[in-house]
Amino acid sequence: MTGLILVAAGSGTRLAAGVPKALVEVSGRSLLQHCLDTVGGVARIREIVVVVPASEVAAVRASLSDASVVVVAGGATRDESVRAGLTQLVDADDVLVHDAARPFVPADVFNRVLDALVDAQAVIPAIPVVDTIKRVRDGVVVDTPARDELVAVQTPQGFRTGILRAAHANEDPDITDDAMRVERAGIPVRVVAGSQRGFKITTPFDLAVAATMIEDR
Ligand code: C5P
Repeated sequence: MTGLILVAAGSGTRLAAGVPKALVEVSGRSLLQHCLDTVGGVARIREIVVVVPASEVAAVRASLSDASVVVVAGGATRDESVRAGLTQLVDADDVLVHDAARPFVPADVFNRVLDALVDAQAVIPAIPVVDTIKRVRDGVVVDTPARDELVAVQTPQGFRTGILRAAHANEDPDITDDAMRVERAGIPVRVVAGSQRGFKITTPFDLAVAATMIEDR
């Protein structure tokens, strides 16, 4: 049985002051609603936990028609919000962690991650990097990693629930995604194809791109 933790507790100050990012609307629906629309078409997901800012728990719960969706307060960091979601999962053997800030990840990416999770312990979707990436320190280039070995990582990221729980048991302040925790525990993380539609909405420019994308659908 597969569960989903939808992390939607980020403040999104670069998008709209005072509105949590996941509640910002594109074409009349919030980023969170767009995510839930897609997830509704992924049959294997049976348990859904939505993690939102504490101030929004009651309003978000009231706005959702599916009574089985659990809404819980997140934390100060994404990592804390994931842990808040993990505490609410009951039956899920496998779990997907997905950013509400990536509302247009197609259902086929969810299914690719879940298919690979049948014989892997951790799976992430990723797309090739098109820019040359450099490591820079104090304004000076220190390294240029080979581009053909680099990918840009997206969500949903899939895990055996027990492995994700164990990976979250340790304090680790440098963490930027869940796979990093699992990697640090020495567990292989399988990579499958993501989608250009899985871009993360961070700035007003991203929001404008998203609105155009929906109009073109
Ligand atoms: O801030 P950023 O875009 O990296 O956030 C990625 C995802 O993590 C977003 O969906 C955001 O809502 C979520 N998040 C969270 N709790 C936080 C910070 C971010 O759920 N404290």
